[in-house]
Amino acid sequence: MSKLKMSLAALLTIILVGMFGALASAEGVTLPTNVGTVDNFGNTNTHKTHGNFQNNTNSCANCHSTHNGENEMLLMKSGELELCLSCHDGTMGFYNVKLPSEAGVIDSHEMSASMHNVSSDLTENAAPGALNNKSTGTFECSSCHNPHGSANDRLLNETVAGKQFANNYNVTIVGYTETITKLNQVPIGTKGLKLNLVEDNSTPELQAINNSTTNSGLKIYKSNGIYNKPADGLTQTQVYDYKLNYSEFCAACHDDYLKNRENGPRADGVHYTHTTNSTKQGRSCTACHFAHGTDITLLKDTAGKTIADLQAEKGWTETQAKNYMKDVSKSGSSALKRFTNMAVCWACHQSTHQIANTPGTTNYPNTTDWQNFKVPGGDYSGKSIIK
Ligand code: HEC
Ligand code: HEC
Ligand code: HEC
Ligand code: HEC
Ligand code: HEC
Ligand code: HEC
Repeated sequence: MSKLKMSLAALLTIILVGMFGALASAEGVTLPTNVGTVDNFGNTNTHKTHGNFQNNTNSCANCHSTHNGENEMLLMKSGELELCLSCHDGTMGFYNVKLPSEAGVIDSHEMSASMHNVSSDLTENAAPGALNNKSTGTFECSSCHNPHGSANDRLLNETVAGKQFANNYNVTIVGYTETITKLNQVPIGTKGLKLNLVEDNSTPELQAINNSTTNSGLKIYKSNGIYNKPADGLTQTQVYDYKLNYSEFCAACHDDYLKNRENGPRADGVHYTHTTNSTKQGRSCTACHFAHGTDITLLKDTAGKTIADLQAEKGWTETQAKNYMKDVSKSGSSALKRFTNMAVCWACHQSTHQIANTPGTTNYPNTTDWQNFKVPGGDYSGKSIIK
């Protein structure tokens, strides 16, 4: 009898905990309700917001108003930043672009913040390095994303600044020499850019969505960026294709910054650029840059440490860590960087070139010693996280 009482009490506790959990989950994740609930086959299936539109769709109404649009695209909000942020600002409990993700951060007001200025009325050809990019389209979220759906991951456009950027390639690497040949353009409707996306099951609410069979296949994913080596059934060829296409995506706007295989002159006839499109580590745009933006909380040093790491591991104060990490670039912009200042360069080139006779450090007598040479306090292990 007392045993039964105990187990009842235990059960009650579980139920109560469960109820509070459920309450919290209701507040934690909110899906848009302005969408249909029955699919083309008559089955109960809550529609998605982006794409996969069903014949009884109401998804359009999340963004468009037939007679009372705020602009010529009949959008519900005067600008795309406002429209997209009306859901992607944390109200849904996921895909909050104001919080750090593999895409970086948008609209940060932290120190050393920079971002793609999508609400500035700039044109797409205002991109530094635009040479053949003559697109006069306004630069906004939809310059990169297609809110109506895409064959690419993360709704990334198949045509950017009027250009189909995705290709198949033949890549051969013999010793250090890499040869990249473009084979053919990927037809529209075929995936040209695949990211390493994994289901985000970090909370019970997200797990519930990912396990649901009545959300039209909706899954909430965390991104780990581009694939660097074969995994999840991807062949080496596919890994190379998607990686090279990621730089081509950025270069659809910044075309004159694209340099395949090795450093070299730009087409402007004046400047030279570092390699920016290669299958190798550190030579693709997103090896060094975020797509959205950066700030002091995301920036890393050559050891791959953030201000949070420095405070936790070295006992630094927040002020101390921020002063160390802040971007001091002459351009005045932290340029969407993953590493602060030129730290990304030092992470690689410290270990590949000897740094002889730096004042204040010990000389090393012969060229084989440089591999063990370190500046006092130096730690260049951040190289390992560069893709
Ligand atoms: C998540 C927001 C969103 C949803 C949902 C959405 N749209 Fe759009 N739509 C936009 C934005 C932003 C633009 C303007 C940017 C552009 O040209 O892609 C646009 C542009 C358009 C255009 C003009 C340009 C073009 O692509 O042809 C049409 C037509 C259109 N939408 C129709 C629809 C219809 C029909 C639906 C529902 C089946 C829908 N949209 C759902 C955001 C949305
Ligand atoms: C009404 C709310 C709403 C608005 C407005 C909205 N989104 Fe979304 N967004 C969602 C939801 C919900 C998802 C999850 C996938 C789905 O339902 O289609 C999502 C997913 C995404 C994803 C990730 C897709 C994936 O599966 O990996 C991107 C990228 C995105 N939205 C971009 C945008 C952009 C750009 C705009 C503005 C043009 C926008 N969203 C406007 C609700 C919204
Ligand atoms: C649709 C065109 C377009 C695409 C695609 C694009 N950019 Fe840009 N980018 C721009 C424009 C326009 C600017 C100048 C305005 C600004 O600073 O936001 C810019 C600026 C930048 C800057 C300088 C920011 C600063 O503060 O100095 C960096 C870095 C950058 N882009 C990197 C990238 C990377 C990396 C990608 C690919 C993930 C990319 N861009 C894709 C249009 C584009
Ligand atoms: C210059 C191109 C570019 C612009 C402009 C841009 N995005 Fe993105 N966005 C990307 C890329 C690339 C990714 C994928 C990054 C990755 O995972 O490697 C991404 C990822 C996302 C994601 C998924 C983030 C996550 O949690 O992983 C959302 C949501 C999103 N973008 C919404 C937006 C919204 C809203 C805007 C406008 C305010 C916008 N984007 C502007 C290129 C862009
Ligand atoms: C090896 C790292 C690295 C790679 C790869 C890289 N960048 Fe950068 N980028 C930087 C650094 C560091 C800065 C800022 C310092 C500077 O200007 O030298 C920068 C600055 C920029 C700027 C700001 C304007 C300027 O010229 O200073 C733009 C735009 C830009 N990069 C776009 C791109 C694009 C597009 C790609 C790919 C085609 C790319 N970057 C690849 C490291 C890189
Ligand atoms: C992931 C490692 C990596 C990063 C990060 C990196 N580089 Fe390089 N860099 C190389 C390699 C490898 C070469 C040789 C040419 C090639 O393969 O593109 C090179 C070539 C160079 C060269 C030409 C001289 C030479 O030694 O061949 C210069 C100068 C240079 N890098 C400067 C920089 C600067 C500045 C940055 C930061 C924006 C940077 N590198 C970031 C790996 C890197």
